[in-house]
Amino acid sequence: MSFDVERIREDFPILGSRVYGRPLVYLDNAATAQKPQCVIDAVSRAYTECNSNVHRGVHTLSERMTELYEQARERIRNFIGADSCGEVIFTSGATASLNLVAYAWSERFLHAGDNIIISEMEHHSNLVPWKLAADRKSAEIRVLPVDDDGRLMTERLPELLDSRTKVVAVTQASNTLGTKPDLRPIIEAAHSAGAIVVVDGCQGVVHGGVDVRALDCDFYAFSGHKLYGPTGIGVLYGKREILEAMPPFLGGGDMVDKVSFERITYAPLPLKFEAGTADFVGAVGLGEAVRYVESLPAVEVEAHERELLEYATERMLEIKGLKIYGTETGKTPIVSFNVDGISHYDMGMILDKTGVAVRTGHHCAEPTMHRFGVTGMCRASFAFYNTRAEVDALADGVVRAVRMLG
Ligand code: ALA
Repeated sequence: MSFDVERIREDFPILGSRVYGRPLVYLDNAATAQKPQCVIDAVSRAYTECNSNVHRGVHTLSERMTELYEQARERIRNFIGADSCGEVIFTSGATASLNLVAYAWSERFLHAGDNIIISEMEHHSNLVPWKLAADRKSAEIRVLPVDDDGRLMTERLPELLDSRTKVVAVTQASNTLGTKPDLRPIIEAAHSAGAIVVVDGCQGVVHGGVDVRALDCDFYAFSGHKLYGPTGIGVLYGKREILEAMPPFLGGGDMVDKVSFERITYAPLPLKFEAGTADFVGAVGLGEAVRYVESLPAVEVEAHERELLEYATERMLEIKGLKIYGTETGKTPIVSFNVDGISHYDMGMILDKTGVAVRTGHHCAEPTMHRFGVTGMCRASFAFYNTRAEVDALADGVVRAVRMLG
């Protein structure tokens, strides 16, 4: 199948919108991606044809919805290469997934005097839950630094790792710099020291995907809405033996086997970690998003996104006073930038008036901002449905903003 970007764009109804009378140029895909019609239809069909709570009824609708929910789980299991569906837990998003691990795993396995290594480029969702756990358990946080190019300094890991290291928390791809560190040596080194590795896959799963078994990470978290799926649904992958050994996180319906006032036993995986009514419709939508992504030619998608990144980098660097943060080769299609003397916020506002949507601010990665000595950045993040003409619209919009504000 050949990759025809104009054809692909027809799958995404919102891309035909106008903002301030101009065609929408949506370059905020790292924050949330747009949804293809098939995902919107799958969600709508689930509500109109078989809405009913899962795992709870013997009636036809409940059985049908349970079947769709579990089919979605199987599709996602296959997509990320997990061994079994028991290792694929539905959550409300990556933040919920990472809080689940940081709380429940730490409850049993983190002790006073232990340490947790976190990369300097982590999103707050793979940082704050660990800081909370460390404070709760009197453990120490250690930081794996990033260099001036935004490269993760993996060579510094041996000096941070010791026998009290229990966790290494690292992103598969930075949401601000785009950096995709080679996770294999990190995971091997962490495992040799007896630590687990918790990977934030939010950006990485979208750009290149993952094979959790080959990677050998212990946990892997991602959100559905960045993967062209609905909001409010996400996934936590965990190795079975670790999930089995952890206490539950939230208590309630669906996560139990037997309940009395004296004693509670838990449901088998993955339900042990899915307390309450799950977002089963969201899960069905995410399953459809994964089906859609899998139907695209992966090599051509990657080539298209790489070409957009190269072209955007070239066009942006023509602009006097513009600095790009994160320049490592092989990064995801993200261009985070500032222009001398111009606030990222003002830049974003003016770009919006030209129809161009970018994110501004610290991108929930304040330590990365500190590393580069800024309070925020403008970030253009690309998806496979973006075009070279949209890169031109971005560059022209920045030039216009510089003229107005510079
Ligand atoms: N984590 C999302 C981002 O990077 C919201 O923009």
